[in-house]
Amino acid sequence: MALSHKLNLSSQGTSLKALFSGYLIVVAVGYLMALVQIQLTHGLADGEYGLSVDDIVYSYYGNRSNSLLENKLHGSMKPMASDEERADIITWIQQGASEEAYESNGIKQIFESRCIACHNADSGMPIPDYTEFQNIKDRALVDTGASFSSLARVSHIHLFGIAFIFMFVGLIFSLASGVPKPLKVLAISTPYAFLLIDIASWWLTKMNPNFAWLVIIAGGSMALSFAFMWVVSMYEMWILPRFGEDTRDALLDE
Ligand code: HEC
Repeated sequence: MALSHKLNLSSQGTSLKALFSGYLIVVAVGYLMALVQIQLTHGLADGEYGLSVDDIVYSYYGNRSNSLLENKLHGSMKPMASDEERADIITWIQQGASEEAYESNGIKQIFESRCIACHNADSGMPIPDYTEFQNIKDRALVDTGASFSSLARVSHIHLFGIAFIFMFVGLIFSLASGVPKPLKVLAISTPYAFLLIDIASWWLTKMNPNFAWLVIIAGGSMALSFAFMWVVSMYEMWILPRFGEDTRDALLDE
């Protein structure tokens, strides 16, 4: 007689477990890459390694005492030019960033030798083209953080992309049999609630820097529920079966 198979992660066949695990591992690596990227772009916004509340304020609200160009030269664009070259550009910005001084004080040469390689129209990167003086001038003015258009772009990519990731992570985790119902519902719904709060908090921080804390709380809660669902799912697929057959039904016995 065939064994009566229950709907739980532990009793699935190896193929489905391999499929689920492959997906979970790739998504976890993707998550780690996202964290590295956050460190390298936002983490350096205040000129120091590590993500802080200041970084988030600078990224969304802007560092309103300085220009974006100057901030980037202290932050993620710091390695692109020597200290003297950066000092020359910063002096030029502080003296009003005129086109005349740009041409005559050697600033143009610095941009041509240090920046244009990436900042040109054909680079394929979504970054401003510095062969156009106006694009430099715009960034030499006071920094008001992420623009509304870039927020709208990143917001919709995140909403669609992350909702999709949590759909599958949550679906796999919903087959875990050892988690009490309230905790399970909480872990599955938390990422969606905080995804909305996270995106909303970017826009709020753009208008008021005090909301930067909300960005951290929302991002952290999302990462926590991701880690929880990931570990429990992997455990139930690969370790739990060693302790014998799991006769619970994850979807019906909650
Ligand atoms: C190796 C390629 C590379 C070089 C060289 C480079 N940049 Fe960048 N730059 C980037 C990338 C990628 C971004 C977007 C990520 C970021 O903001 O850190 C960027 C973003 C910027 C921004 C923000 C633009 C915006 O409107 O959001 C400024 C300002 C900037 N760079 C200035 C400079 C200056 C000044 C130099 C020369 C001293 C320079 N960059 C050299 C790759 C480069």
